[in-house]
Amino acid sequence: MTETATAPLRIVLGSSLPEHDDSIARMITSGRGSLALILGDEDCRYRLLGQSINWDRILIAYRDCAALGYAAFKHHRRGPFSPGVRPFVREFGWLRGGLRYLLFVISECREWYYGFYLYGLRVTRQARHQGIATSLLSEIFNQARQSGHDRVELEVQVKNQRAQRLYTQQGFTRVRTTPVNWLGRLLPFPAVMNMRRSLTSLP
Ligand SMILES: CC(C)(COP(=O)(O)OP(=O)(O)OC[C@H]1O[C@@H](n2cnc3c(N)ncnc32)[C@H](O)[C@@H]1OP(=O)(O)O)[C@@H](O)C(=O)NCCC(=O)NCCS
Repeated sequence: MTETATAPLRIVLGSSLPEHDDSIARMITSGRGSLALILGDEDCRYRLLGQSINWDRILIAYRDCAALGYAAFKHHRRGPFSPGVRPFVREFGWLRGGLRYLLFVISECREWYYGFYLYGLRVTRQARHQGIATSLLSEIFNQARQSGHDRVELEVQVKNQRAQRLYTQQGFTRVRTTPVNWLGRLLPFPAVMNMRRSLTSLP
């Protein structure tokens, strides 16, 4: 076993870091692949969102100095990203950039009815199956409690069986499956399952 594998895992809130390095911003903006038609590929998502990360909505998992995964969350209408229209215009021009920005804002509004929402969860490929996502989720539950919520909600793609298994193991239950909602008729959203985890009862 390598030294890296045995070092203790640290989960830290992004806003507690003295500085934010680019590689972490890249990791965080690599999520939202389901919005690729609006936000483009990973490089493009980094250019659009990388400068507008709300670090108080990001948990980062570290071993030594290596960032191995993150969990992003949203509550009180503040999520991990607050981009303005400018980067969209810079990237795509006024018309197409403005339209994409509008669609992104609409997609963000879609989640407003959740109290505490798990916005994103990702572990780097080489660090998977070591319990890192499980540790991130446990800290997510703490964040939710500290912000006065008694449950955590999320959406997971119906085809993402691995993540569903993880969430079920961590006490989430299915609330409903949304094949196509009103927004899905306009935008290419995949079918998602809503899951919920109560924080007042044991998993
Ligand atoms: C889904 C994802 C976040 C899981 O991350 P992870 O760190 O591998 O998750 P964990 O290690 O906590 O648990 C995963 C599996 O490893 C097992 N495991 C946990 N700790 C372990 C350990 N120390 N040794 C061996 N296996 C372990 C778990 O039991 C689980 O097993 P299962 O897949 O058979 O159910 C990761 O695969 C990922 O980033 N996927 C791409 C992004 C994604 O799909 N995100 C979810 C969006 S909703």
